[in-house]
Amino acid sequence: MPRTLITSAIPYINGIKHLGNLVGSQLPADLYARYRRARGDEVLFLCATDEHGTPAELAAAKAGEPVADYCARMWAVQKELADGFRLSFDHFGRSSSPQNHALTQHFAGALDANGYIEERSERQVYSNADGRFLPDRYVEGTCPNCGYDRARGDQCENCTKQLDPTDLIEPRSAISGSTDLEVRETKHLHLLQSKLRGELEAWIDGQEEWPVLTTSIAKKWLNDGEGLQDRGITRDLDWGIPVKRGEADWPGMEGKVFYVWFDAPIEYIACAGEWAEANGLAEADWRRWWRTDAGADDVRYVQFMGKDNVPFHTLSFPATLIGSGEPWKRVDYLKSFNYLNYDGGQFSTSQGRGVFMDQALSILPADYWRWWLLSHAPESSDSEFTWEDFQASVNSDLANVLGNFVSRITKFTRSKFGDGDAAALPEGGTPGDAEAALVERLTTGVAEYQRHMDAIEIRKAATALRGLWVAGNEYLQQTAPWTAFKTDPAAAAMHARTALNLIPLYATLSAPFIPDAAASMHAAMGTEPAWPDAIDLEALKPGHGFTVPDVLFAKIDDAQREEWQARFAGTR
Ligand code: MF3
Ligand code: ZN
Repeated sequence: MPRTLITSAIPYINGIKHLGNLVGSQLPADLYARYRRARGDEVLFLCATDEHGTPAELAAAKAGEPVADYCARMWAVQKELADGFRLSFDHFGRSSSPQNHALTQHFAGALDANGYIEERSERQVYSNADGRFLPDRYVEGTCPNCGYDRARGDQCENCTKQLDPTDLIEPRSAISGSTDLEVRETKHLHLLQSKLRGELEAWIDGQEEWPVLTTSIAKKWLNDGEGLQDRGITRDLDWGIPVKRGEADWPGMEGKVFYVWFDAPIEYIACAGEWAEANGLAEADWRRWWRTDAGADDVRYVQFMGKDNVPFHTLSFPATLIGSGEPWKRVDYLKSFNYLNYDGGQFSTSQGRGVFMDQALSILPADYWRWWLLSHAPESSDSEFTWEDFQASVNSDLANVLGNFVSRITKFTRSKFGDGDAAALPEGGTPGDAEAALVERLTTGVAEYQRHMDAIEIRKAATALRGLWVAGNEYLQQTAPWTAFKTDPAAAAMHARTALNLIPLYATLSAPFIPDAAASMHAAMGTEPAWPDAIDLEALKPGHGFTVPDVLFAKIDDAQREEWQARFAGTR
């Protein structure tokens, strides 16, 4: 059985994610996980919360909670929303887990033993007003690369350049806003990534099938040298993974913790350990996914993330894995995304602009959002959410095309051939040219859909899927069983039977996009998901019972749309 390991970039713990975050990693990862499972792979799909670093500390301080409590609470909130969106993680872990503590310290020890770590005296921003060092996001200022005036000390949100706090122009404290800052010396561990340039370059050059967005970002950072500068991997913070060499103390590093971007990707591995523990499995059960000396050579590993995460996944994390000298599995395919914008501007967590995961679920079920987001995934360029487009897409694709098909054919058959509420596939008639043409069209369409899903070309896959739904509607339009019924009831019965056979097919094929509607369709038809090897529109025989499902998708009317538009126009 083929094995597929799938990870989504792990969302920061600080607050509820917006729809742009969702479509940039967790949701497409879920689409792919559901698809691979449906195709019969053994899948391990992992995600977690990214709990360390300044974002967590700052958010906890703002909420007036101890940071550990804040993280535990927000993990539960994010978990519930993930469930609400039907994200089918095999495990939703935490980067603060004991497994990640141990593994992060282990990697630091291994890197050190192999000569990839150096202690350096570093010049760091110290705030006189706050009486402390200001790492990363504790400093804000102007980006030296693009001039954006709200750049953070770790990375510029505007041009994605990775920064050090001392790089910022006109820096200020994010805690107090004070500009009374000075630079002081402090000792930190540095990862000598530059020593690994040759190996990283060879590895990246070997990735011929990676999407252009991924390789272009990876090569840009590799070739202009920026991404491969040796990087500080420790910080002067209280919250985080204490700096140790394996289990041993690291003299001189007392009171310091690892930098969040060092421990976060290691959580991909630690999360598999958390999964094993949570399911009563053995150490060997997770190692077979992650260690090439324990069978992981057979695993295909696919990562999902937004474009700003690409340098960390193509350079820093691989440097950690390679530098350890140990046989860890590396990513095989890295799918990255551009940004989703919101109604003429950007989604913004700091400014509360856009629709956030909890708000989305409070107004409509997950499938509506999943369909729109995935069919508009920002793959080849940024894309934009507008309420008009959302309304149009829901009303046409989901309500008119798919929903209407299912409702029309189940209701027609029940009323003409059923007995009260009892309905079954009617008998009579023999499939002819129209049915043969439909089978042919579906055969081509399903092959195309699979090709795009295999390639993780999400928009194209959505278009192909919609095309399959359209084929069913056109078949009904063309054969018009409600008219045929008056003159040739046997032919009408055969058309109805054929169309009803499409419902389980649609349910199975659509489940990665709209799992709840797919489950209702299977329930109504008394069927189980089974990926089609060939299109068989006579699989369900005359006499097979079914029920008319509740409305699968309700239309969004203009008044409703305007109300939501107004409600979400301001900031959260
Ligand atoms: N928390 C980061 C973000 O949301 C992603 C971390 S991904 C990992 O941008 F590689 F670090 F795990
Ligand atoms: Zn910038």
